Amino acid sequence: MEPEDARISVLDRGFLYGDSIYEVARVYNGVPFALEAHLERFYASGERIGFALPWSRNELRNVIKETLEAAAATDAYLRVIATRGCGPLDLAPQAAIDPQLIVMALAPTVPSKETYERGRSAWTVSVRRNLKRAIDPQAKTGNYMNNVLAVADARRHGADEAIMLDVEGRVAEGSSANVWALIDGVWVTPPLEVGILGGITRHTLLSICGTAKVAAEERMIWPEDLAAASEVCICSSMREIVPIVLLNGKPIGTGNVGRNVARLHELYRAEVSAQTKSW
Ligand code: PDD
Repeated sequence: MEPEDARISVLDRGFLYGDSIYEVARVYNGVPFALEAHLERFYASGERIGFALPWSRNELRNVIKETLEAAAATDAYLRVIATRGCGPLDLAPQAAIDPQLIVMALAPTVPSKETYERGRSAWTVSVRRNLKRAIDPQAKTGNYMNNVLAVADARRHGADEAIMLDVEGRVAEGSSANVWALIDGVWVTPPLEVGILGGITRHTLLSICGTAKVAAEERMIWPEDLAAASEVCICSSMREIVPIVLLNGKPIGTGNVGRNVARLHELYRAEVSAQTKSW
């Protein structure tokens, strides 16, 4: 059905409390990139919030395929949401009685060619990333207030993207992307322990770099390391690899998109095209 015809109860816990989990994958050539990794993380997110999904992996795969076919989606934004559903008004998850599954295939909004060529600006926001012991950032839940406030802060400062720190002041991630910095010729990304989402794009890049012999590793990054990096980028499923050329109003490196980030993006695109030839 068309998105505007889809209905969900106002008593749904996803709507009331953000008591839901979700995944976003980018569809290329009718095929979702890294679907199995996304499904794996979907179940893992459920486990992290004590929500045992009642659907099998095969059922999920089939309903995704059916939706993409019905939408005749070639390049698309695929969003899969599971909410704990409705029940008596009660915070206790035990009150939830009818989990809902929603699959959306929408026209993708992706960065323009110009964005990749020119890069974007970022701001280190004052909103800190959720504590792991509050809402674990590794669970991809529908509760995005932390990230919404981060983007709002970045935009108030006239920047495109937010860079979030953890409570200790270490670089965590973007509002909906992971962060990389080229430091002394090595691509560095913060480890999961800092309290970030284990991004599929981040994971793909670590693996591609391993194969292509591009130096890359997980290591703590402090704000001053980020500011002094020769290149910086953020990565996510829909946006792939976006160069950051201006941080807190100051240029990163030369202030232009560097050749290393361009190379990283090329490697990523080659991997995507190799993996999305067919289901
Ligand atoms: N978000 N960190 C956060 C907080 C995110 O929300 C996302 C992605 C990422 C990157 O993850 P991945 O590489 O698996 O897309 C990191 C999705 C794309 C979204 O909310 O639209």
